[in-house]
Amino acid sequence: MREMVQETRLHPSDLIYPLFLHEGVNNEQPISSLPGVSRLSPDLALEKAKEARDLGIPALLLFGIVPDEIKDGEGSIAFDPNNIVCEGIRQIKQACPEIGLIADLCFCEYTDHGHCGPLTSCGNGAGLNVDNEQTCDALGRQAVVLAEAGADVIAPSGMMDGMVTAIRDALDEAGFNHTPVMSYAAKFASSFYGPFREAAGCALGAYADAPKDRKGYQMNSANAKEALREVEADIAQGADMLIVKPGMPYLDILRQTVDLSDMPVFSYHVSGEYAMLKAAAAKGWLDYQECLLESLLAFKRAGASGIITYGALDAASAL
Ligand code: PBG
Repeated sequence: MREMVQETRLHPSDLIYPLFLHEGVNNEQPISSLPGVSRLSPDLALEKAKEARDLGIPALLLFGIVPDEIKDGEGSIAFDPNNIVCEGIRQIKQACPEIGLIADLCFCEYTDHGHCGPLTSCGNGAGLNVDNEQTCDALGRQAVVLAEAGADVIAPSGMMDGMVTAIRDALDEAGFNHTPVMSYAAKFASSFYGPFREAAGCALGAYADAPKDRKGYQMNSANAKEALREVEADIAQGADMLIVKPGMPYLDILRQTVDLSDMPVFSYHVSGEYAMLKAAAAKGWLDYQECLLESLLAFKRAGASGIITYGALDAASAL
């Protein structure tokens, strides 16, 4: 009877699995702050893709990790059609075409200062900050490079104003008018991204006169109304799907975003949320699997179309 009246359900098709691609062959580098998650060379990423596909997971979210030596102020490796993400996309597309490939679109993994776009002087003596307009142009260029490599969906995560318009225009102009944009519409400047920054090597601090946080473009955790303005702006610019991020601490924002529109809305259960479950389970304080499934079900209950989670393979196996 309880089954019969259950209001929401979790299914493997609700889940998106993030993958960190890095150079080499048969090269797996575990991420200490994300137990069970590794940086993978394209051949190993392909094996993971097949595993995810066989579990019924519909899509992967791809991140590129590059050595510090090839980073620069603009993150120009992002424009190279032979960069690690493009290489990974080509290999997975060829041998495992059944799984969808969502390319995270940002520059923080590729810049030597770790910010999400090129820096410029603020012009008021306040030092450097991200150049919003230049970053939007660059995002358009990077989106086309990723689409040419075979990305099915482009997911801009940098929270630049006007980024969806810039990306949509660039994709359309290059003939990719069928490539959807899944925008991180409401992304908060969160400390829950800590383990990701270790994984991606995008810590801030290399430039003395650049900000030591991302509050110049990511949102203030205190603001819900502003989050809805960000969501409305992305819809008006032509976004096809939306992401609210982080996950559990922002379920109210997720719910309000779902109520505001008919768009598919995804929640990102971020690195710190996953790491907390793993750490508590390692101490014997929580049951990892049960707490993971309960967390993911909460996103469905709050109205999410799906969830990006490092626990996707674990959850799909359990389901
Ligand atoms: C890049 C990006 C970040 C995350 C996803 N894309 C880091 C950040 O914004 O600092 C975080 C993901 C996670 O913590 O799991 N802009």
